[in-house]
Amino acid sequence: MKQLKRIKGTQDALPEKTMQWQALEKHIRRNMALFNFREIRTPVFEMTEVFARGIGQFTDIVSKEMYTFQDRSKKSLTLKPEMTAPVMRAYMENSLYAQAPLQKLYYIAPLFRQENPQAGRLRQFHQYGAEFIGSPAPEADVETIVLALHIFEELGLTNVRLRINTVGDPESREPYKLLLQDYLKHNIPNPEPQVAERIANNPLRVLDSKDEKLREVIAGAPKLVDHLKEKAAEHYRSVKTQLESAGVSYSEDPTLVRGLDYYTHTVFEITSDALGAQNALCGGGRYDLLARQLGGRDFPAVGFAAGMERILMALESQGKSLARPAVPDVFLITMGEAARATMTSWLAKLRRAGLSADADFLGRSVKAQFREANRSGTRFSLILGEDELNQKFFAVKDMKNSTQENVPFDSLTNYLLQKKESLTV
Ligand code: HAM
Repeated sequence: MKQLKRIKGTQDALPEKTMQWQALEKHIRRNMALFNFREIRTPVFEMTEVFARGIGQFTDIVSKEMYTFQDRSKKSLTLKPEMTAPVMRAYMENSLYAQAPLQKLYYIAPLFRQENPQAGRLRQFHQYGAEFIGSPAPEADVETIVLALHIFEELGLTNVRLRINTVGDPESREPYKLLLQDYLKHNIPNPEPQVAERIANNPLRVLDSKDEKLREVIAGAPKLVDHLKEKAAEHYRSVKTQLESAGVSYSEDPTLVRGLDYYTHTVFEITSDALGAQNALCGGGRYDLLARQLGGRDFPAVGFAAGMERILMALESQGKSLARPAVPDVFLITMGEAARATMTSWLAKLRRAGLSADADFLGRSVKAQFREANRSGTRFSLILGEDELNQKFFAVKDMKNSTQENVPFDSLTNYLLQKKESLTV
């Protein structure tokens, strides 16, 4: 029978890699707490409408990338492709606004998009992100951007760049869309069907096209920043001034429009020079209209999400590791039947004392047990043979210095705990 394989675009995290994942998650939780964000968890699937309405029908995600299926009762469900819409759904459904006017929420979650897999682009990937709900103030945008950068900085990621833009409010954007549509129609006489469709349904998305020829046309297109109504212009100005006074360096990119429809005002992306074509580590922005699109009342909000696989890739390319491999504190080596019969109880005793302990489970020769102890990376091997058993002591071998000491049964755990402490200091 054919041996089964994992689904294209998914990854197994093997033990060495999960150490990095755990360390990254710990780092995220610690820094989210510093900014007073609290964790929220939502189901892995939602009613399809949460995304169709939330992200927007004409976006790539909704029109071609979602894992959508009917359950047995013919309901349309979707594996979540992003977290912002589910978080807003949960916020409203659970009336979090009644607990406090401002909610700072964060998440770490697996997400699903049926994209063409390549380096840094997966079908199941993981994001952490933050959603700051309840404040329309530019200070909230800045808090969010500063948080995103803070996490990268503390990780020691170098060569990250922040780009910002505004997609304005509907009063600025609707008339601008017509202007842009007009310009694109005149300047792209025979558009490819996909481009024609975008011009008709989502003209702003034409702005971030990667096509060289289109980019020339786009360079001359009217810019939304030049067509902002006063309120939107003031918001954007204020975000920029505050970023500057916080010492945050950024560049403005009028073609940054992001792939999701819920944005208003500030949008931003953080890229890494260490990555290839998929160089966006993090994207976000303000999304004051999402709550209403999901059937609620207006709740202003701003947030970001960062791709964890890409962060681990960027760290790796910098030669940076977040965690050392875990090794057992001790490895038990037994010689002879009588000693072996005490193995389980000794392991239990060591573990109860807080020492991580392992042993041989194949009944192998002493030589093979030493080889296993070496492979485990342990610092100390505890050797128990007939003599030791009769005289109630262990031969404790320091695997690094190749020194050996006899330690009575009674004082074994204390001796090892002291050794362990002196090594970690
Ligand atoms: P997004 O730009 O779609 O935004 O995703 C954010 C980040 O997730 C990207 O910058 C990238 O690092 C990572 N990412 C996205 N797709 C993939 C993929 N197929 N494989 C690997 N990594 C990927 C959002 O998802 C918004 N919800 C962000 C947001 C939060 N806006 C406001 N609040």
